[in-house]
Amino acid sequence: MGTVTPSGTPQPTAAIVGCGDISSLHAEALTALQIPVVGVCDVSPDRAQALAQRLGTRAYTSAQDLLAQACPSVVHVCTPHAEHVPVALEALDGGAHLLLEKPVAESVPQAQRLVEAADAAQRRGVRSGVVYQNRYNPPNRRLYELISSGALGAVHGARAAVSWHRTPEYYAARPWRGIWSQAGGGVLMNQAIHTLDLLLWLLGPATSVTGHAATHLLGEAIEVEDTAEMLLTHAGGVRSVLHATNAYPLNAPVTLEVHAELGSAVMAGDLTVQWNDGRSESVSAQGAGTGRSYWGDSHRLLIEDFYARLGDPDPFWIGIEDGAATVAAIAQVYDASPDLRGRGTISG
Ligand SMILES: NC(=O)c1ccc[n+]([C@@H]2O[C@H](COP(=O)([O-])OP(=O)(O)OC[C@H]3O[C@@H](n4cnc5c(N)ncnc54)[C@H](O)[C@@H]3O)[C@@H](O)[C@H]2O)c1
Repeated sequence: MGTVTPSGTPQPTAAIVGCGDISSLHAEALTALQIPVVGVCDVSPDRAQALAQRLGTRAYTSAQDLLAQACPSVVHVCTPHAEHVPVALEALDGGAHLLLEKPVAESVPQAQRLVEAADAAQRRGVRSGVVYQNRYNPPNRRLYELISSGALGAVHGARAAVSWHRTPEYYAARPWRGIWSQAGGGVLMNQAIHTLDLLLWLLGPATSVTGHAATHLLGEAIEVEDTAEMLLTHAGGVRSVLHATNAYPLNAPVTLEVHAELGSAVMAGDLTVQWNDGRSESVSAQGAGTGRSYWGDSHRLLIEDFYARLGDPDPFWIGIEDGAATVAAIAQVYDASPDLRGRGTISG
């Protein structure tokens, strides 16, 4: 797996499985980082071919064939949610490092299965990482630093909001996104999961979760929820609330506020910290320029870091268990929402 560079160090190689919308950002990052892509795969031959042509590589329609013939050292999994674990397990079993798009799985049992497989693979030197790229946004990194160093003092609480616009056409273009069995959920599982991950990263694991999910606007187009609210209690007792909707008329920047003993921090694209003693600080979002900064455009930073750390003995710092924690928290909200339509059914 991989070639050898002129300096004699092994050059990792990449493959992308799932050649839809998000694969473009992976492809752009791999090109910019000069990481050879030895193959791409999609069950749609046209999509596989289109991305293969763009990258000057070989197209496959089966992940097994790609793994057996192209032998990539890293597999980027960019498939619909219910196709994450099957493809991820194939990659790990074949000895390839795994870089997996969110959510790690469409259900808690599947996520748990993958945690176990990734742990076993880690012991064989095979790494796994989850694409929670917003952890690389400069405002979020600074906020983490301020909280973890104690610079903000004791945290009193936090709130976050994801208010986005998704049309029936968005779901019609990719029907899996609106179906429980394939997406595992709606706005929480697909969009706000990034912000939930930030809350768990910043404030610690959830010791209790409750909330409610419903479909207010898009019920004609989707089975899954378009709106939800969550109340999280984090280890240590700090509480946070998250509101998420795809029924907003526009894609507003994600907001996340942390109120603490020595000041308050408000992230709304950029970060503004207001200290109680009158000082203030701001950190610009300075996106990597994909034009989609409202949902976080740090894919390239995360991918670069993942490859840079492949030789580390330690697991990648955003692991499958982090992804499983977000899926488990979301499942608790769904379980507390008995009126969700069609959950668990297979829709055509
Ligand atoms: N990190 C982010 O900010 C971000 C943003 C958008 C999407 N995503 C995630 O990326 C993933 C893909 O989303 P998308 O919007 O690109 O979806 P998409 O439907 O545009 O692309 C998915 C592709 O996977 C292919 N596919 C399905 N099953 C397959 C299989 N078994 N093997 C190979 N290919 C298969 C489909 O034919 C399709 O082309 C999802 O997990 C989504 O949540 C992440």
